[in-house]
Amino acid sequence: MKIFTGISLIALFVIVSSSAIIQRPGSLRINPADSLQAVRDQYIKQVSEAIKGKEQMAVDSVFKNLKVFGGFPAGNLLLAMNSWSRALGVTCEHCHTPSHWEDDSNPEKNIAREMSKMTSNITNEYLRKIPGMKNTKALINCTSCHNGKLKPALRIEN
Ligand code: HEC
Ligand code: HEC
Repeated sequence: MKIFTGISLIALFVIVSSSAIIQRPGSLRINPADSLQAVRDQYIKQVSEAIKGKEQMAVDSVFKNLKVFGGFPAGNLLLAMNSWSRALGVTCEHCHTPSHWEDDSNPEKNIAREMSKMTSNITNEYLRKIPGMKNTKALINCTSCHNGKLKPALRIEN
């Protein structure tokens, strides 16, 4: 499980940096609050209550079926889940049966795992190896492609 710790640290950086964007006043144009947030907030509250007191423990010691995440505090998993959901424009139910969060029977959940690995690989193996880039910390996240939609755009929409 630990082989993905490096990936997860980058993922966490992305999460933390994107939540800073969400919370910055006047940033609505960049990351508009979407109408599905109220639904997600209910589930986030439900999981937060279930892990109460364990927020600072290692994420993979608190949750049951993690194959990608590791190496950050359990409380931050919910930030990651909310960022992924926002990036795709969905609620938690797109990948999960609520209350059975560890269940893997929905194929979208495994696709998300693979997308997460792909995203880290693009950043580490391609983007950061392009010589002469002004931003040496450049990165790709789910939003870079999905931009609030399940299907990334293939052409500019007018
Ligand atoms: C695009 C798919 C997707 C969406 C949307 C999503 N999740 Fe997840 N979730 C995952 C994946 C993938 C994992 C497993 C990560 C891993 O293997 O390390 C996961 C793991 C979890 C876990 C840990 C379960 C366990 O015990 O192993 C919880 C809790 C969870 N998600 C809650 C949520 C909540 C709450 C939301 C909505 C705010 C949400 N998820 C939205 C894909 C998603
Ligand atoms: C480099 C671009 C790119 C990045 C980055 C990316 N995706 Fe995707 N994703 C795609 C494409 C392209 C598709 C296929 C869309 C289609 O044509 O159906 C897709 C499809 C998906 C689907 C399946 C949608 C469906 O209709 O069933 C999920 C779930 C998903 N992505 C989750 C994620 C998550 C979570 C992340 C971030 C961890 C992410 N993606 C990052 C390009 C990307």
